[in-house]
Amino acid sequence: MQKNKFYISTPIYYPSGKPHMGHAYSSIIADVIARFKRLEKYDVFFLTGTDEHGLKIQREAEKNNKNPKLFCDELSTKFKELTKILNLSNNDFIRTTEKRHHDSVQEIWNRLLKSGDIYLDKYSGWYSVSDEAFYDEDEIEDKNGKKISKSSGSLVEWVEEESYFFKLSTWSNKLLEFYKKNPNFILPVSRKNEVIRFVEKGLKDLSISRTSFTWGIPVPKDKKHVIYVWLDALTNYISALNFPNIEDKKYKDFWPADVHIIGKDILRFHAVFWPAFLLAAKLPLPKRVFGHGWILSDDKKMSKSLGNILDPIEIIEKYGIDQLRYYLVKEVSLGNDGSISLENLKNCINNDLANNYGNLCQRVFSFIKKNCNNKIPSSTKLNDADKKLLNNLKNSLPKLISLMNNQDLNEYIKTVVNFSFEANKYFNDSEPWAVKKKDTKRMNTIIF
Ligand code: MSP
Repeated sequence: MQKNKFYISTPIYYPSGKPHMGHAYSSIIADVIARFKRLEKYDVFFLTGTDEHGLKIQREAEKNNKNPKLFCDELSTKFKELTKILNLSNNDFIRTTEKRHHDSVQEIWNRLLKSGDIYLDKYSGWYSVSDEAFYDEDEIEDKNGKKISKSSGSLVEWVEEESYFFKLSTWSNKLLEFYKKNPNFILPVSRKNEVIRFVEKGLKDLSISRTSFTWGIPVPKDKKHVIYVWLDALTNYISALNFPNIEDKKYKDFWPADVHIIGKDILRFHAVFWPAFLLAAKLPLPKRVFGHGWILSDDKKMSKSLGNILDPIEIIEKYGIDQLRYYLVKEVSLGNDGSISLENLKNCINNDLANNYGNLCQRVFSFIKKNCNNKIPSSTKLNDADKKLLNNLKNSLPKLISLMNNQDLNEYIKTVVNFSFEANKYFNDSEPWAVKKKDTKRMNTIIF
């Protein structure tokens, strides 16, 4: 029998510096879901990788006196290593400097050209290199004599150059129809409403090529231009499935993706631009885009420029990877911003993992060692308390599956941890140490 397929992705990361907690967070969330779907017997394709073109990377490489490709080779390796450190179960790791991706992006371009969605003009306006995004006049503000983006706070610079444009403006209605027909395409709902309001205002055509630098994939038949890094980057999700070969088994099995896990700062690219590109290219749209919130440190977004980064690798070395994974999933309600701190991480490890779950394991296993020859004994007749404990667990399964399918990881983990509280209480109330003297069968059942 053919297995059900499930495709989940993380954003592909800019290898412009060391990986930080925000990157680790996107990846851990996706990994938790990927692993759950595998437990449910899905054939899962889980993709992550690095986003290596564009002015941001070119400038960073120049700052380091490195050729951009060599610069990316070094830093992309760091992100690849991070997948091991985070214990990710990804099936592939894509780099946008690979040939498979180059071919796929050029094919997307050709499709957009063929559908009449591309024209040549001149761009003049604001651009943030840090966000690799164009901003309208009403999206920027003055701060200390400098122009910055209102949404991200990053510096913008004035750009004037020949550019190819994508006719995004003609897709507004189609997109709104799509959101309406697919109410779970953008989650959480608050994010969806934001996107709908943005599209309802009417979309402007989007500049999709640059001529003032060279670090990118060239526009087919016009080498003066490189393709806009976001059109390049978004295409990674199908490059990894062997697009443009749409007859390929991998593409057929896994596209459209079930969910793109992303941070809220890159929602517009995934929920507006990406579906519009795909509609124009006559390709199916992903089923869901989930925009998680930010990991905050001292209530501010953790970022290189703010200098408030908690280094995931240092934390993992000191406290352990499962501890960090558990803490992030439990502490930050997926979809909302959440503050993390070392103090809270320690409390969480002590309370939930050591005192609750660890204690349960310790008591049960040492009891088994001492009284049951180191083997899990078998059970006999169940009494009401036994049945209650087992049924609680069994009856929760449909709820757990549905929580996971709605990316409600927070509620999911609470339910699971609660079992551990209940099991501890059951162990206490059942008093196997007292029962053992008079009724071995009963003791075995409790331990089982
Ligand atoms: N390269 C683009 C994504 C292209 S996807 C086709 C990009 N890269 S990034 O390295 O800047 O960020 C990658 C992800 O990390 C984003 O989802 C972003 O939201 C997430 N995080 C970066 N800092 C973060 C926090 N402080 N908190 C949580 N996640 C944040 O954008």
